[in-house]
Amino acid sequence: MAAKIIALGSGKGGVGKTTVALNIGFAIASLNKKVLVVDTDISLPNLDLYTGLEKPLITLLEVLNGTSDVQSAIYTIQMGLDILPCGSSLQALQNVDLDKLGNVISELKDSEYELIILDIPAGLSKLSMLPMTYSDEVILIVNPDPASISDAQKVKAATALAGISVTGIIVNKYKKSVYNDIGIKLGLPVLGLIPQDEAIIKARDARKPLILLKPGSSSAKAIMKISKKICGIPEKKSIFQRFIR
Ligand SMILES: Nc1ncnc2c1ncn2[C@@H]1O[C@H](COP(=O)(O)OP(=O)(O)OP(=O)(O)O)[C@@H](O)[C@H]1O
Ligand SMILES: [Mg+2]
Repeated sequence: MAAKIIALGSGKGGVGKTTVALNIGFAIASLNKKVLVVDTDISLPNLDLYTGLEKPLITLLEVLNGTSDVQSAIYTIQMGLDILPCGSSLQALQNVDLDKLGNVISELKDSEYELIILDIPAGLSKLSMLPMTYSDEVILIVNPDPASISDAQKVKAATALAGISVTGIIVNKYKKSVYNDIGIKLGLPVLGLIPQDEAIIKARDARKPLILLKPGSSSAKAIMKISKKICGIPEKKSIFQRFIR
């Protein structure tokens, strides 16, 4: 069966797309699903920096400039997660044929993966819009601040014009009782809330999966809950919740 492709996009930069893409990837890999995270942030990539992977020589750039096949650019990292990083060589970037990205993604769609997560560059440029057009669904990562919400609104409008479907938002760096109505403001379902959490910074600096390093943290629990939702795995209800029903 073809893989489902989910793109994580945003209007504003720095909202947590790469962090969420990678940690949802680890969580879904821990559920025994074959998952691949692809860094499509061709101009300013940093997915591999958040992992323990040594600077990879063969990356998406080499695939897009025709000097490598896609399988050679995929690396299995911790928890059996596969990632397709993007290199940062300016020279390789100059020779990139962006139109090849569609072929690369359709080749991956028909491979062994059940799910492919695309880490999309921020904003509305062609570099962000193009990879989103190759996804089955887009999830926007939004922070609880006015600029992030307003920029997400713009991306939502642009994707609608381009015929791309946005299925929901993940509110990241959430702080209790601030901007509770982000989903209503954007007119999109909220797939989950990930708190602003020191555990995420610790996992980033240790280059370790959050769910391994800090499994009991509120952010790890939120990421696992969102990952199960993405995979269509029902939440186990607590005795109290079952009693209420
Ligand atoms: N829930 C969180 N709590 C605390 N820090 C976080 C959280 N999510 C992300 N961060 C931190 O915020 C910073 C930006 O995250 P990240 O690089 O994932 O954002 P991005 O949207 O991918 O950025 P860019 O638009 O530049 O690609 C990082 O330092 C990351 O560790
Ligand atoms: Mg990023």
